[in-house]
Amino acid sequence: MAEHIHPIFERLVSRVERERFLAQRSCTVWLTGLSGSGKSTIAQHLERRLFDRGFFAQVLDGDNIRTGLNSNLGFSPEDRMENIRRIAEVARLYTQSGIIAICSFISPTRAMRAMARRIVGPADFVEVFVDTPLELCEQRDVKGLYARARRGEIKGFTGIDAPYEAPEQPEVHLPTEGHSVEESVEMLLQHLLPRIQPL
Ligand code: ADX
Repeated sequence: MAEHIHPIFERLVSRVERERFLAQRSCTVWLTGLSGSGKSTIAQHLERRLFDRGFFAQVLDGDNIRTGLNSNLGFSPEDRMENIRRIAEVARLYTQSGIIAICSFISPTRAMRAMARRIVGPADFVEVFVDTPLELCEQRDVKGLYARARRGEIKGFTGIDAPYEAPEQPEVHLPTEGHSVEESVEMLLQHLLPRIQPL
């Protein structure tokens, strides 16, 4: 199948030109963490803060991906891998277009995140560990899913009966306990600014 496909590599409009047009340098900001850790909230606030400073960014998260592009995928290890593979490909397209992609997905295993890093390109990949202890996520249980998982109504729930492997060397480590959303976003923003500001 693939032999009849001829991707165009010689672009007439380069990434650098696009980045100049947008007055920024792009990258993929990859937020990983447990369900209920605050990834999506941080992603949304980061997007707002960036936009207010004149940066063009787009959040990709479970809500806009798992209901559309990945609506045929569940939560088996294979489906999660495919979920992450497709998202990483989309993030790559955004990044190559000069847009800052903010991805918010549990992406529970190191292998999944390594794959995402490979697809996006290591130089463009900023891994952010949204580090909220399981006890806290479970205590908050915003969506009521932990309670259901504990009752056995959801099988293979991350942190309960499916693994979450914390990143060993994330570019950014955000321990959220004892910090407000604003503080976490500010910390992340300060890390990102030097690498997204135009040269
Ligand atoms: S991932 O593992 O493939 O990266 P993703 O981030 O897209 O997961 O989706 C996670 C969201 O799906 C959770 O925040 C939760 O709302 C919901 N969800 C439903 N079933 C599960 C499950 N078995 N494990 C984790 N999250 C689940």
